[in-house]
Parts: sequence; C-alpha cells; structure tokens
Amino acid sequence: MKKAEMISIELKFKRLQTAALSETDDNLRAAAIDAASRAYAPYSHFQVGAAVLLDDGTVVAGSNQENMAYPSGLCAERVALFSAGATFPDIPVVALAIVAIQNGVVQPAIAPCGACRQVLLETEQRYGRAIRVLLCGQEETVLVASAQDLLPLSFSFSL
Ligand code: THU
Repeated sequence: MKKAEMISIELKFKRLQTAALSETDDNLRAAAIDAASRAYAPYSHFQVGAAVLLDDGTVVAGSNQENMAYPSGLCAERVALFSAGATFPDIPVVALAIVAIQNGVVQPAIAPCGACRQVLLETEQRYGRAIRVLLCGQEETVLVASAQDLLPLSFSFSL
C-alpha cells in the first residue's frame, strides 16, 4: 500500500505596531473598542468588540452578548457579521477588527473562535471578496489578509 502523504499548510499573517495602522484601519479599531464598551459580559467579564467594514465605508459594530444559559450567548464577531448581513445584505464585507477589554484595559490581540471563523469564511465566500481581519492589541496588531488564512480545512460538503 502507498505510504500516507504528509501535507503541510502555510498560514500567513503580519504583526505590526498598532500605532502604525492606517487611518482607515485605526478608525475600525476605534469602532471595535467603542463596541466592546457595550458588551453584555456579566459571566466572563471579558468584553469583546468587533467592527465590520463594508465596501461602501459603512461600519457595523457588535459586542459579545452572554446569557445565563452559556451556549445561548454569542461572540462579538458573529453579532457584528450577522448584524451586517441582516441590515446590508447586498454590500460586501471587506474588513473586520476585533479587540478585547478586561478591567477597562485593552488586552493583547485575540483571535476569533472556530465558530466565528466559519462564519467569517462563509461571509467571504458569499460576497466573493477577501475579508481583512485585524486582531488589535494595545501595542501590537495581527493582520490576516483573508478569512481563508484563519480556517484551513474548513467545513464544506466536500474536501
Ligand atoms: N468571545 C468573543 O466575543 N469573541 C472571541 O473571539 C472570543 C470570545 C466572548 C465569548 C464570551 O462572551 C467571552 O468572550 C469569554 O469567552
């Protein structure tokens, strides 16, 4: 029998100083920070803000919304993405900024959970446009050029 072939996947992302973000990216980061202040996080006390940039410049923000029945809550990224889809279904999403705040302090960059990555990827496929993902910490920001880079081997009906 043929030996199993080893395949590796390369993930690409950039790290840069948050202070070096472009004006557009920094505005999106500011919208995510603002959104985090509206998180409903009485259980984790971990406030997450997400801001979606649409192709026409519209910004749609979201924050994590928790629930006493824990799995019923939703992450900031999906609140923002679903809100954008529900409000502006015909306008492509082009970027998403994410920030986390704890005790009033912006945390080092966090990456979206698996479920949010799957939703991000489908949003990208839905509009046929790459979504730039900005994981914004106070000092450093991680820039991912496409949701595809965040979720190799994602779910679909065939591999
Ligand atoms: N959370 C998000 O909103 N986005 C993430 O990327 C990771 C986690 C939320 C879920 C929960 O309300 C809290 O952060 C702690 O896990």
